[in-house]
Formats: sequence, C-alpha cells, structure tokens
Amino acid sequence: MKHLMTCATAFVVTFMLVIVPAGIVLSDEPTEENDASHDKAYVEKAQYDAEKAKAEAQKAMAEAEKAVAEAEAAIEMAQSKKKQAEQEKASALNKMLKAGYFPDDITLTSEDKSSTAVFSHQKHAQREKLKCIECHPNIFIMKVGEGVIKKGQLTMEEMKKGKYCGNCHNGGKAFDLKDLKHCRRCHPKK
Ligand code: HEC
Ligand code: HEC
Ligand code: HEC
Repeated sequence: MKHLMTCATAFVVTFMLVIVPAGIVLSDEPTEENDASHDKAYVEKAQYDAEKAKAEAQKAMAEAEKAVAEAEAAIEMAQSKKKQAEQEKASALNKMLKAGYFPDDITLTSEDKSSTAVFSHQKHAQREKLKCIECHPNIFIMKVGEGVIKKGQLTMEEMKKGKYCGNCHNGGKAFDLKDLKHCRRCHPKK
C-alpha cells in the first residue's frame, strides 16, 4: 500500500513538473498579436515578389522591343540592298543586250508544271530578224527575272484565240500551233 502511494505521488509530481509545463510551452496558441504580425510579413513578401516580377517583365519587354526594332532595321537594309541588286542586274542585262546578247532560251511552264515549252530569242530576233518591239511590250512585257504572264493565262486555248505565241503562230507569219505536226517544235520534250 505504501508502495502504491509512493508510485501515485511520483506520477503526480512527474505530471505537474514535466508534462504540464511542456504542454504549455509546446502549445503555441495563436494570439491576436501573433496573427497580425504574421499577416503583415506575408503581405510584405507578396508585395516584394510582385514588384520583382513586374521589374523582370518590364526588362523582358524592353529587350523584346529592342529586338523588334533591330529586326525592322535589318529588313529595311536588306530590302534596299535587294532593290539595288535588281537595278544592277537590269542595267547589266541592258548593256549585254546593246552589245548584241540575246537572253538564253526561256523555258515556259504551265501552272501545274506538267507542260513546258521553249522560246528562243536567237531564233526569233537574230535568225528571223524580228524586232524586239514586235513582241515587247505588247505581246510579252519585257521584264527581267520571273515570267510576267499572269499565272494560268499562257495556255493553248488563249493562244489559239491569237494571244501570246498565237499572235504569229497561226499559219500566217509563222507555223500554226493548232497543227499536230508542229507540237514538238515548241514542246521538244513531248
Ligand atoms: C508556237 C509554240 C507552240 C506550239 C506549236 C504548241 N504549243 Fe502548246 N504551249 C505553248 C506554250 C508557250 C505553252 C505554255 C507553257 C506550257 O504550259 O508548256 C503551251 C502549253 C501547252 C499545254 C499545257 C497548258 C494548256 O494550255 O493546256 C499543252 C497540253 C500543250 N501546250 C499542248 C500542245 C499541243 C498538243 C500542241 C500541238 C497541237 C501544241 N501544244 C503546240 C506553245 C506551243
Ligand atoms: C517573238 C517574240 C519576241 C521577240 C521578237 C523578242 N522577245 Fe524578248 N521575250 C519574249 C518572250 C516570250 C519572253 C518571256 C516572257 C516571260 O517569261 O514572261 C521574253 C523575255 C525577254 C527578256 C527577259 C528575260 C529574262 O531572263 O527574264 C528580255 C530581257 C527580253 N525578252 C529582251 C528582248 C530583246 C532585247 C529583244 C530584241 C532583240 C527581244 N526580247 C525580242 C519574246 C520575244
Ligand atoms: C512576232 C511573231 C512571233 C511570236 C509572237 C512568236 N513567234 Fe515563234 N516564230 C516566229 C517566226 C516568224 C518564226 C519562223 C517562221 C516559222 O518557223 O514558221 C518562228 C519560229 C518559231 C519556232 C521554230 C524554231 C526553229 O527551230 O526553227 C519555234 C519553236 C517558235 N517560233 C516558238 C515560239 C513560242 C514558244 C512563242 C511564244 C512564247 C513564239 N514562238 C512567239 C514568230 C513569232
């Protein structure tokens, strides 16, 4: 019995001295004061993060604007270089033409690329002694580089009506393009 009493006393003492104080220390019951300072810190951190994000976004925007301006300047420069090169090419060709050069044989292609025809300046202008003006610019605009005939317009149907090559290749000035025996002269690959 004495033993039990000692044991119970020891338990109560231990409870009072160790567990209760530890419980008080450990339980960090939120007080009003504690809450307010916590919220303030949280708001300050959020404001700081937002300011930082804003500054970074502004920097990125400034860099992007600079890149756009640089690209625009480069395009402008390239366009003026291209224009200059085209002018130089045209004036070089004009000099060659004055010196008696005829453009190389020109391959004309149908819109779907299934058909090609060959035109020779040498044969028309030099051999047949046709003047440039007989074809340029009324029948064919004379333009260096890409063909100037509107896509899909240079067709047998149009030519049979007298357009383009059909101006002459109608059995009058030159062999008739409707005649089956002449197809290969303009379409050597067929
Ligand atoms: C005086 C030259 C000339 C003669 C002759 C000629 N063609 Fe053409 N033909 C052309 C030219 C130029 C084109 C346009 C480029 C191309 O599509 O090959 C063309 C286009 C074509 C095309 C493709 C586009 C279209 O109009 O349908 C076919 C197919 C064609 N010719 C068939 C013929 C046949 C068949 C004959 C013979 C009856 C013939 N050609 C005779 C010059 C000629
Ligand atoms: C029988 C008609 C004919 C005559 C004549 C003719 N040309 Fe052409 N020429 C053409 C045709 C067809 C083209 C090609 C048009 C196209 O591709 O749109 C052409 C294109 C050209 C081109 C552009 C060549 C290129 O590579 O882009 C030049 C330059 C030219 N002709 C100069 C001349 C000169 C100079 C003469 C006189 C010496 C002449 N031509 C006479 C029919 C003619
Ligand atoms: C201003 C008139 C005229 C025009 C336009 C014209 N030609 Fe001709 N072409 C001639 C004459 C003239 C000849 C020589 C006479 C003949 O062979 O009947 C000739 C001859 C040719 C020859 C035969 C060449 C050889 O090896 O003997 C071919 C191929 C030819 N032309 C293709 C064309 C083509 C393709 C076109 C259209 C892009 C065209 N011609 C436009 C007048 C013209």
